[in-house]
Formats: sequence, structure tokens, C-alpha cells
Amino acid sequence: MTDIGLIGLGVMGKNIALNIANKGYSVSVYNKTSQKTKNFVNNEAKGKDIHAYYDIESFIGSLSKPRKILLMVKAGEPVDNMIKKLLPHLDKGDLIMDGGNTYYPDTTRRINELKETGILYLGMGISGGESGALNGPSLMPGGSREAYDLVEDILLKIAAQTEAGSCCTYIGNGSAGHFVKMLHNGIEYGMMQGIAEVYDILRKVLKLSAKEIGDVFEKWNGGELNSFLMEISYKIMRHMDEETGKPTVEIILDKAGQKGTGKWTVQTALDSGIPAPSLSAAVEGRILSYFKEDRTNLSRKIIKKHVETKYDKEKIIKDLENSLLFSNLILFSQGLWIMAEISKINDFDINISEVLKIWKGGCIIRAKMLDFLREIIDEDKQNANLLNNEKTLKFLMDKLDSVKNITNIAKDFYIPALVHNTALDYFFSMVEENLPANLIQAQRDFFGAHTYMRIDKDGVFHTIWE
Ligand code: 6PG
Repeated sequence: MTDIGLIGLGVMGKNIALNIANKGYSVSVYNKTSQKTKNFVNNEAKGKDIHAYYDIESFIGSLSKPRKILLMVKAGEPVDNMIKKLLPHLDKGDLIMDGGNTYYPDTTRRINELKETGILYLGMGISGGESGALNGPSLMPGGSREAYDLVEDILLKIAAQTEAGSCCTYIGNGSAGHFVKMLHNGIEYGMMQGIAEVYDILRKVLKLSAKEIGDVFEKWNGGELNSFLMEISYKIMRHMDEETGKPTVEIILDKAGQKGTGKWTVQTALDSGIPAPSLSAAVEGRILSYFKEDRTNLSRKIIKKHVETKYDKEKIIKDLENSLLFSNLILFSQGLWIMAEISKINDFDINISEVLKIWKGGCIIRAKMLDFLREIIDEDKQNANLLNNEKTLKFLMDKLDSVKNITNIAKDFYIPALVHNTALDYFFSMVEENLPANLIQAQRDFFGAHTYMRIDKDGVFHTIWE
């Protein structure tokens, strides 16, 4: 009898299975295509406590009770199909975990559908890509506490470890785990776009080579901007394409793909009424990139009149560093505000400080900044909007001139900087007492009698405008 079963031997599935086995547990594995299973046990899994099964019944029969099964299949229908296949063979108290990038309302639905059966369910966000899965990912399991308790030992061990402990914690009720993973990805999109915009300015304004940009990124990675994404970015800058002898990054087509998690984050933000323009801008950046043909045609139709100014290279590099720190903090603050709000609405009961702790290792958005964010959250747990904190404000104000300078330079050079610009506008909006929304209210009232409130007395008013 094995300790745990894993279904789905894609790269992530295989590496999680190996990770679990490396921590001393026995694993049963199953994959729809048996050839994949055969290849796995005869190669990477050879000599490990990993056992292959080629039909669901014997796979389930091999698991010690209560059975624990981790699904590492593609999010969406494949998860539903697999649950359907498993159900007839499972008993009350057995546990199914979904480790995919599932849209959290789907997890809520599955938990509800399974309620009557007595089968336990965990929706678990897994971050860290291939190497994280093998060496220690960040794990975000959500569902019933009872379900989590069944696998806590295994999860704590296979997750990445930092000086703050294991990068796994019980996230909260229902679909809290997949919800938090979705937000992780929303922030991931934002941080990636922010770095990409900085790269664009470094190459187009300062005319730095990929290698030189790599040096700048590496230096930043040694300081406050230290993060996994900064680290891989400097490595990317140095990578050369063997065929052409050019930096690999320069031969990659500028069309960014996406699988939907960033978009879901933005949809969730819009539905909950929490402002997240920078998270949204990052998704829009990817969408815009996709229109290569239009962009190419249009770029040939206009003359970009660059402002002829002498720029101080060192100052721009320092300002870019600050602007990236500024936008990263804004991205996190937008994401964490959504987290607090949705957790409240759905009774997820998410401990944001704990989430920041398990994001410190293993995951894609691991960054030095998380320690600072945790300090702020721990000071006032009720504070959903981080900007209300004095330390946050000081951090942002210290970098404000740099962000203004960078966004202005970007404009001078016709360089889009969606994340940096929206971070600045978000900040300006949040620290502005008088927004021009009074005019919008007047316009709404003018054409639709939508009424408005006044600043000098209570009540709801309507004006006959003409
Ligand atoms: C992670 C990542 C991962 C995600 C990729 C690709 O935390 O390991 O978030 O889960 O699948 O980043 O996402 P996109 O294809 O949407 O960019």
C-alpha cells in the first residue's frame, strides 16, 4: 500500500511525484496515456518508491486508506472527468486534491458537488514551475481543515523551506487555495510586465546591449529588488542563441501568451469593486503584444519625434530601480486588497501574513519585498489597503520622483509603460481628495437622471440641467 497517489504525469506531475518520493513517501502514479507512465518509471523514477498503475481500479487499490490522490491534470474539464472516474471507487473520508491552476469558482462548485459523497477535497495552488515542483514549490492548499490534516505532513515536507519555515500553510476554507494561487499569478503577470518595461527603456533609451542589461539586473537582484523574476531575467539577458550568435531574448517574437489566471484576477477585481489597474494593465500588455501585425503596420505610419535631451545614464538606472520597486509594491497592494475583500465575502478566512510567508520561497513571485509587506500586514491585520500604512506611504513617496522621471522619459521615447504608468496613476488617485468624479456624476444625472450626492448636505439630488 502506498502513501499517496498522483494522476497526471506532465512535467509538473512527474516532478511532484519525485519530490514526494524523495521525502520518504511511497507514491502510486497513473496517467491516461500508459506510455508516459512506463517511460517515467523506467527513467526518472527508476529505483524510487514510485509505483506505476495502468488502470484506475488497481491504482486506487494500491493506496492506503483514507486514500489521498493528487490530480496534476489540466485545469477545466479534465479535472471533472477524472473526479467522475475516481468516484465509484472511493470511500467516504478519502481525499482528492487538485494541484492545477484551476479557476477558483470551479473548485467551489466541485466541493459542493462532492459534499453529499463524503469525499474530502482540496484545491491546491502549486507555484514554482518545473524546478519548484521537484525541489520545493510554494503550496497553497485550501478546503476543509479535515482534508488538509490528512496530508499536512507530506505537504509541509515537499514544499520549499525558508528561514521562516515551510512554504506551505493551510490557506483557508473552500476554494481559498486556488483563489490565492490565482492572485499570485495576477501579481506574477504584473511583476513580469514591470521588468519587461524596464528592459524596454534600458534598450531603447540608454541603448544598452542585452548583456549590459543583464549586468544591471544582476546588480539590482543583489539589493532591494531581489526576486526570482529578477534573477531569471538577468540570466535570460546573458543567454546566447547558438544558431545566430545573438542574445536569445532578441530572437524571440514579442507576442506574450497567457493561460487565463491573470485575466481571472482582473475579472475578480472588477466583480468585487476593488481597484487594480496595474494588475489589469499587465494583462492588457500581453493582449496588446499579440497584435504584432497591426503594431508593425502602424509603427511605420507615424513619425516618432523623440525629444532631444541628454540623459544621465546612472540616474536613469537608479530611477528605473526605484520605479520597479514602486510598481511592485503597488502590484502587491492591489493583489492583497482583493485577497482581503474576497476572503471576507467568501468566508475563506485567509491569513494574509501566512500567505506572504509561504510566497517567500518556491514560487514565481518570491521576492525580498515580501518581508516588508509582512511587516506592514502584521502591524494592522484589519488594514486591507496597504496604502493606509505610514511605512508604505513613505516607501512610495521616497520613490515618487523616480517614477515620475521614468514615466516621462518613456513618453518622450514613445515607449509604453503600462504597469509603471498605472502604478503612478493609482497612487495619485489614492492620495487625491478631489477626483473629477463630480463631473461624471453630473453627466450621468444630465443624460439619465441618475442622481448625485452633494458635498454640503445629505440626501440624493437631481438637477433639471436644461
Ligand atoms: C507558477 C506559475 C505557473 C503558470 C505559468 C504560466 O506559479 O508556477 O504561475 O503556474 O502556469 O506562470 O502562466 P501563463 O501561461 O498564464 O503566463
